[in-house]
Amino acid sequence: MSRLRIGVFGAGMVAQVEHVPNLVHLREKFELVAVADPSAKARDFIATRFGVATDPNLDALLARKLDAVLIAAPDFAHVSAVENALKAGLHVLAEKPLCYDPKDAERLAEIQKAAGKVVQVAYMKRFDPSYAAALGLIEGLGAKLRYISVEKSEPDAGYQMGHHFYRASDDVTQEMITQGRAETQRQVTAALGKEISGAVFRGYTGAFCSSLVHDVNLVHGFLDHMGIGRVEASAAHVFAAAEGASATMRVGGDQALWQMVHINVPHLAEYRERVALHFDDRIVELIFPAPYLNHLPTRLILQRSNGHRYETTEIRDGFTEPYIAELEGFHAAVTRGETVKTGIAHAAKDMTLIASIGKLAAA
Ligand SMILES: NC(=O)c1ccc[n+]([C@@H]2O[C@H](COP(=O)([O-])OP(=O)(O)OC[C@H]3O[C@@H](n4cnc5c(N)ncnc54)[C@H](O)[C@@H]3O)[C@@H](O)[C@H]2O)c1
Repeated sequence: MSRLRIGVFGAGMVAQVEHVPNLVHLREKFELVAVADPSAKARDFIATRFGVATDPNLDALLARKLDAVLIAAPDFAHVSAVENALKAGLHVLAEKPLCYDPKDAERLAEIQKAAGKVVQVAYMKRFDPSYAAALGLIEGLGAKLRYISVEKSEPDAGYQMGHHFYRASDDVTQEMITQGRAETQRQVTAALGKEISGAVFRGYTGAFCSSLVHDVNLVHGFLDHMGIGRVEASAAHVFAAAEGASATMRVGGDQALWQMVHINVPHLAEYRERVALHFDDRIVELIFPAPYLNHLPTRLILQRSNGHRYETTEIRDGFTEPYIAELEGFHAAVTRGETVKTGIAHAAKDMTLIASIGKLAAA
């Protein structure tokens, strides 16, 4: 089984721009059997542009002969889709966030154990060669860590991927949209232990659960690598009518502080995502490009000194595209039993921290 028969559920923006073309590109590793989406417009786009079969729903997709499924449906649909795919005996690559409620991650872990299948969460930035190089630069530096900053500003999606071929799935029924909102509300209420609405709800589901979840996972990866386990959220804010959101975490008790901010800049044609680790004698900084600018390297910058001699080094380790590397990683996990970098347990840790951030933001 070296060539995986795979189906995709959800044919919206990320599937049209990344997953479907990348799966077609990796034809030695994947046979893209079919793509399912309730939107007739999305199905028509997939069929005409890629010549791939389509289905109107997940059940029809799971009825096909598959080895694996990639889930790129809206956030609220991830838990049930992962559960159904595992129960159908398939390996799963699921878009982030895996869930809102960390208890759902625990339940999925049990189902996964019973199924004996791979589940990988699609945190593609963990496959970025600059992230791997940054891990190499922080080896053994845990005791010297002082501060982590994450700063993300995002323009409207059009600025990020207007140059790609894409057709919006704007023909799903009103009933489906209403059901999706109710299901999101139900899962968020379960995660936070209380109902939230308005700006806090939008900031929580958007800035924290959908966007900063990537950075939470990146930072957790750095901290794991340095053997630092204790992280507690100490403050959180949603501001500017949910156009902005921020959180502060204590790291390793009082050893270090982690601050994180997300701000929408709808009319600025520039995406910026910066993750910087400040040690007592150096700063390691990653500056990510907009995710849909494929193959554009993430800048890795190291600042350090030898006495009064100060040096800045910029490191580039090739042009590997993280969205492609994550598919290759999933293939290797399924076919060769390689370790899953971003499994259910990692997502559970991310969503547990984000739920504690949400509770502070809603307090
Ligand atoms: N890893 C990344 O960098 C990245 C980037 C973008 C999006 N994502 C994630 O991928 C998923 C899809 O995001 P997107 O930007 O493609 O969104 P989108 O809204 O463009 O696409 C979602 C698709 O799911 C379909 N769908 C399936 N079941 C549905 C239902 N019950 N109700 C409504 N629509 C349904 C829609 O028709 C639509 O085609 C989200 O979970 C998002 O968080 C990840």
